[in-house]
Amino acid sequence: SHREMPVEKGLDHTLQLLREGYDFMMNRKDKFHSRVFETRLLGEKVYGLVGKEEAELFYDEDKFVRKNAAPGRVQKTLFGKGGVQGLDGREHRHRKKMFMSLMSNDTLQEIRQLVRKEWNHLLAHTEKELHVREASQIVFTRVALRWCGIPFEEKKVSDWVDELNDLFEHVAHIGPKHWKARFFRNKAEKWLEELVEKVRAGKETVDQNRLLYHFSMYKDAHGNFLSPNIAAVEILNLLRPTVAVSVYVDVMFLAMRDYPEEMKKIKSQGKEAGERFIQEVRRYYPFFPFLAARVKETFIWNGYEFEKGKLTLLDLYGTNHDPAIWKNPHLFDPDRFINWKETPFSFIPQGGGDFEIGHRCPGEWLTLELLRETLDIFIHDVPFTFPKQDGDIERNDIPPQPNMIINII
Ligand code: HEM
Repeated sequence: SHREMPVEKGLDHTLQLLREGYDFMMNRKDKFHSRVFETRLLGEKVYGLVGKEEAELFYDEDKFVRKNAAPGRVQKTLFGKGGVQGLDGREHRHRKKMFMSLMSNDTLQEIRQLVRKEWNHLLAHTEKELHVREASQIVFTRVALRWCGIPFEEKKVSDWVDELNDLFEHVAHIGPKHWKARFFRNKAEKWLEELVEKVRAGKETVDQNRLLYHFSMYKDAHGNFLSPNIAAVEILNLLRPTVAVSVYVDVMFLAMRDYPEEMKKIKSQGKEAGERFIQEVRRYYPFFPFLAARVKETFIWNGYEFEKGKLTLLDLYGTNHDPAIWKNPHLFDPDRFINWKETPFSFIPQGGGDFEIGHRCPGEWLTLELLRETLDIFIHDVPFTFPKQDGDIERNDIPPQPNMIINII
């Protein structure tokens, strides 16, 4: 049986999206009392989905595809063109394997050691005041370059930091910041393309166990090398988000400041409490607002018709704050993760579903390792205090920027 999908009236709601930011989808879900609705964004009719069953629907490969789903401006800054995000089916699975093969236990172990080493290096040069966001950007950039096996000169590190950072800090901007991000993407892609070509020609000796070598030599589902440009795009797909974990570190310090009793718990109860704290940071604070896909073929779900080719957005933030899944979703409460049963579609800060088959973030374990090691260092080894500061997050600041500052004692 057919049902009418709630439709938001009006020509376009892009301005409301920019204003309401992370609340845009939830506001409509509440207004229409419906987890499925239709609105208009950037001149297009768009379906909105919020919730666990809706996430499961969104990840159904028979119903949705990623091809041409991301807006051009996001591709030109955040993702790059031709990368894994926009692939479907067999081609996607094959490329995704390359990413997943990098996430072994040994790798994650090594990453933790690199994180500790690079924090120690940075802290050895820190007098008192530490800008958390900038510091973790430097640490994670150095970790990412080393992990990927990309040769770099010490004096060039700060360029890498700025450039990688620009690729994700300005996704939601229009105008000069957007153009600057595009400029950096072109520059970084070109530099990496040349590096890939040198590796292939044997003109640059690189560690064969490292990612730069793997991606340079990787063959696609048809047995061909990736074009140097796509290899560059995929290498940036590892470097950029590793540096973006600095956003989580920033909000993690905001949580430490605002919920000092949780810090005490971690100190006294140890690892498990730290783990719950990190999970709650990823649930509670916003990062990616939503994901985009297109309807593959017209279908009916719960009585609602989804028309072929239409853009569909899955609300990640709203699903992580859905009262049908989370009790008191707007409270910061790491203890909610005691005896928590993980399911693929209810806790989706880095996407949902299956890592190998779907588009779920292949960097989720790596993200957790970066956060665990960083938390461990600041809980146990580096005493600090919070000077007076705002630490506010705007609802439409994508990604959030509390810009926390701490004083090392
Ligand atoms: C995909 C979030 C860290 C690499 C994604 C997606 C989200 C996400 C929401 C899209 C999932 C989908 O389309 O279904 C995050 C957040 C991170 C993070 C919030 C923490 C800051 C990382 C790290 C890496 C990484 C550390 C790699 C080192 C990727 C790649 C994809 C992806 C390659 C595309 C996967 C695909 O299309 O199959 N991430 N991520 N991410 N992430 Fe992450």
